[in-house]
Amino acid sequence: MDIKNLMVTGGCGFIGSNFIRYLLEEADFMGKIINVDKLTYAGNPENLSDISERYPGRYVFQKADICDAVRMNQIFRDYQVDAICHFAAESHVDRSIKRPEEFIQTNITGTFNLLETIRQNAGQFRLFHHVSTDEVYGSLGREGYFTEETPYRPNSPYSASKAASDHLVRAYHETYGLPAVISNCSNNYGPYQFPEKLIPLMILNALDGKPLPVYGDGRNVRDWLYVKDHCGAIWTIMRFGDKGETYNIGGNSEMENIVIVEMICDILDEIIPVSAGYSRKKLITFVKDRPGHDRRYAIDFSKLQKAFNWTPRESLATGLRKTIVWYLENANWIERSRSGEYRAWISEQYEQERSPS
Ligand code: NAD
Ligand code: DAU
Repeated sequence: MDIKNLMVTGGCGFIGSNFIRYLLEEADFMGKIINVDKLTYAGNPENLSDISERYPGRYVFQKADICDAVRMNQIFRDYQVDAICHFAAESHVDRSIKRPEEFIQTNITGTFNLLETIRQNAGQFRLFHHVSTDEVYGSLGREGYFTEETPYRPNSPYSASKAASDHLVRAYHETYGLPAVISNCSNNYGPYQFPEKLIPLMILNALDGKPLPVYGDGRNVRDWLYVKDHCGAIWTIMRFGDKGETYNIGGNSEMENIVIVEMICDILDEIIPVSAGYSRKKLITFVKDRPGHDRRYAIDFSKLQKAFNWTPRESLATGLRKTIVWYLENANWIERSRSGEYRAWISEQYEQERSPS
């Protein structure tokens, strides 16, 4: 697909910034990127500071809220946007349990605004790629996988808001012929992930000698997808996917949370031993479970695999090691990401929720 002016929403966040980097540095993308991001606590323009210097003609940043219809229309017209890859969202389940309002606003109303902007300026518009989550499918037992046919059964305010946005995208395709594709992926990890999610939180706490708060019995299962593999899958779907279709993206790496945390401790102990015989696993602390905590996610991505021969390249062992090394080498990024609202949130978490079970 020959995209000239691609709007990437949420491009200063974890996956969005990795995606922009991937498009400009590695993919066969020749157009221009317009990164639209509100810069919430999770958005960090530093993730792309080198990119804006190295690609001045092909990358622009617009600080804007996707809920602002006037701004969205203006940006759409000013840059003659012909495709959108939509990442912008409130993305953290724990936050959605405490304060759901912003999830409804950004994830539902924001997505609606983008769809309306496209509808009103249809012209040369070619593709809306909606980045969604496997959490819309709910929770699995010990057996089975989520397929594209699995009925929606979201359990948290976050996943319910993502499910609503998926339905809107689908409806705009069916009703107005809007050229849209949806991808639903599993848990991402890798460089630039804000340290509130499991893997970066555990890496940083373990380095600081702080407790490693594992929810419930630690036996909940997630399917871990290295962020660069996710970026490659999205670009594959953008180029070759059929409009109106949904594609699941998974990492082929199911793992219990407690095992992930132990793996992180082992890798850190090997790279930076504390003292002879000491293991960071001693920091593991079982805490009160997350309300409505989904037990298991597992993705069947055979549709994507069969159609386009896509498969994840990174195993959990190799991806986790790369991720840990990245966090070790990027202390400045960590320091700045952890200032301000992050500190307030984490300290609130520890005071109210993370008392040992
Ligand atoms: P993130 O929280 O790291 O980044 C979200 C970005 O969106 C931030 O830069 C933030 O500033 C921006 N943003 C938030 N509200 C906005 C608004 N109203 N207007 C403009 N920008 C706004 O999220 P992420 O982990 O990179 O996730 C990106 C997308 O992928 C989300 O849609 C999420 O639901 C989806 N997803 C994430 C994962 C995962 O494991 N992280 C897995 C499946 C799907
Ligand atoms: O499955 C895709 C989803 O993955 C995305 O849609 C979300 O945006 C993303 O945040 C992620 O959601 P999770 O809730 O699965 O991710 P999180 O990193 O918050 O938690 C992963 C697992 O680890 C989950 O079972 C809860 C557990 N956990 C998490 C934290 C933060 C802990 O045990 N302790 C913790 O401190």
